[in-house]
Amino acid sequence: MNIVLLGAPGAGKGTQAQRLVRDFGVAHISTGDLLRAAVKGGTELGIQAKKYMDAGELVPDQLVIDLVKERLAEDDAQQGFLLDGFPRNTLQAVTLDSELSELGRELDCALLIDVDRDVIINRLSSRRTCRACGYTGTAADEVCPSCGGEMYQRDDDKAETIANRMDVYEKQTSPLVEYYRGQNILKTIDGDRDVDVVYADVKEVLGL
Ligand code: AP5
Ligand code: ZN
Repeated sequence: MNIVLLGAPGAGKGTQAQRLVRDFGVAHISTGDLLRAAVKGGTELGIQAKKYMDAGELVPDQLVIDLVKERLAEDDAQQGFLLDGFPRNTLQAVTLDSELSELGRELDCALLIDVDRDVIINRLSSRRTCRACGYTGTAADEVCPSCGGEMYQRDDDKAETIANRMDVYEKQTSPLVEYYRGQNILKTIDGDRDVDVVYADVKEVLGL
């Protein structure tokens, strides 16, 4: 199954993706995670991407598109993938469609996790991420519940950057909701409920 996860920053895309990967072993392609790994590794891509990420702006399309193409070609993505954080604008969505069609593949579902802006701002301000394994938790997690690693606050989870990320989402990414509705593959889930309740809905909508 080939899935795109849509939703504002902090809607819970990564949280739901972690569960789908754990239970169904689907390949998780998170452009945010890939970019953060590049920044951490000090690669040329990471150096270029960091200034955009810290400001809450989108990294230039071609850099991200190349990253996704490479990742889609890996073995584990052949049986199905879960795209998280990509596409982020219409150009990325159109490019993804044409890349998949060249590969004789297509999207089965674009899953929108819908959460109000005020809820999101609270969630992102208290989010903490594991430095070692990338696990996503909250300020209540002193160490990573998954691996015991150190929890830190992402640079872009500071108040001023959060507001900009929300604006970028509304202007550039939210038009994709209509884009996928037009393709008849959009499914919407209310993401403002307990994580496990949202996950039960995710599985139902995906027929899992
Ligand atoms: P990215 O990493 O993709 O960030 P994002 O879209 O802003 O998404 P988040 O990771 O912030 O949120 P999420 O929806 O995964 O929420 P989470 O599950 O963590 O991108 C970062 C940057 O990289 C971008 O700003 C851009 O610069 C660049 N970038 C990435 N992709 C790009 C692209 N395609 N093109 C160009 N640039 C790109 O949950 C959030 C918090 O809420 C957590 O603390 C979690 O525990 C909690 N939570 C989750 N679900 C619930 C629930 N149901 N109830 C209560 N709390 C919950
Ligand atoms: Zn960890």
